[in-house]
Amino acid sequence: MAERKWALITGATGGIGYEFVKIFAKKGYDLILVARNEKRLYSIKKKLESFYDTKVLYISKDLSETGAAEDVFRKVKEKNIFTEVLVNNAGFGDFGFFAESDLNKQENMINCNILALTALTRLFMTDMIEEGRGKILNVASIGSFMPGPCMSVYYATKAYVLSFTEALSVELKGTGVSVTALCPGPTDTGFWKAANTDDTSNLNNLKNASPRKVAGYGYKKMMRKKVIAVPGFLTGLAPLGIKLLPRPAVRKIVYKVQKMK
Ligand SMILES: NC(=O)c1ccc[n+]([C@@H]2O[C@H](COP(=O)([O-])OP(=O)(O)OC[C@H]3O[C@@H](n4cnc5c(N)ncnc54)[C@H](OP(=O)(O)O)[C@@H]3O)[C@@H](O)[C@H]2O)c1
Repeated sequence: MAERKWALITGATGGIGYEFVKIFAKKGYDLILVARNEKRLYSIKKKLESFYDTKVLYISKDLSETGAAEDVFRKVKEKNIFTEVLVNNAGFGDFGFFAESDLNKQENMINCNILALTALTRLFMTDMIEEGRGKILNVASIGSFMPGPCMSVYYATKAYVLSFTEALSVELKGTGVSVTALCPGPTDTGFWKAANTDDTSNLNNLKNASPRKVAGYGYKKMMRKKVIAVPGFLTGLAPLGIKLLPRPAVRKIVYKVQKMK
């Protein structure tokens, strides 16, 4: 009988993460789901196990908390599971001027978007390297390529994710382990509400991508061991445009777009 493969997905209860969950279940992976909402994790487990040939474990955890990544890793190791795929997807933003922001929320964002992602990568990659196989997908953002006035800390966290992923891709050469940064543009998920943007804002006039398509694209690129994956034709052009424009112009344009939110 073929060996079952396990994938661990953070931020599995909604948006892009939930789409990843369905893709991996369809592909026959067993799953470890991580997010805060335990009720929703349980109901996703029940649904997936009745629809697909998959075993689902879940860990309810706030990844902003100190030691969260270590707790998740310990729980997985206690079950003697080798995690073949790690999807670091959990993350959130906060809209508004930094000077008026809630410092606690900014710190939690850095903890979740940067610290937990870094620690999970470090902890799970050791076994992957030993086994000579494994894949890590870090969800960054199109914001990784630019500064983000009105979402300054969020954009900076995503710049970290991209830089970190690119550097690891070089270090991991020849190990059998790959790492991919998925960099979506605006996507139709709960992200915007969590970031305190006005639902009735002009942002709705911008064409938001579907989370299903974004996750599908990320899955494909991760399987092909692409280092940077930017879904969507127009979003895909943005990194090049940003390289060609003078930096002050980039800052001005991003600020104008942000003010539409
Ligand atoms: N939507 C966009 O436009 C967009 C664009 C570029 C990049 N991204 C990135 O895509 C990723 C997924 O976001 P999304 O758009 O799918 O947003 P979403 O619909 O708000 O989903 C976020 C997921 O992360 C989990 N989560 C949030 N804070 C957490 C915490 N402290 N600890 C553990 N889990 C937490 C949430 O579950 P619980 O509430 O149950 O914890 C949820 O499952 C994020 O990294 C985001 O930065 C989004």
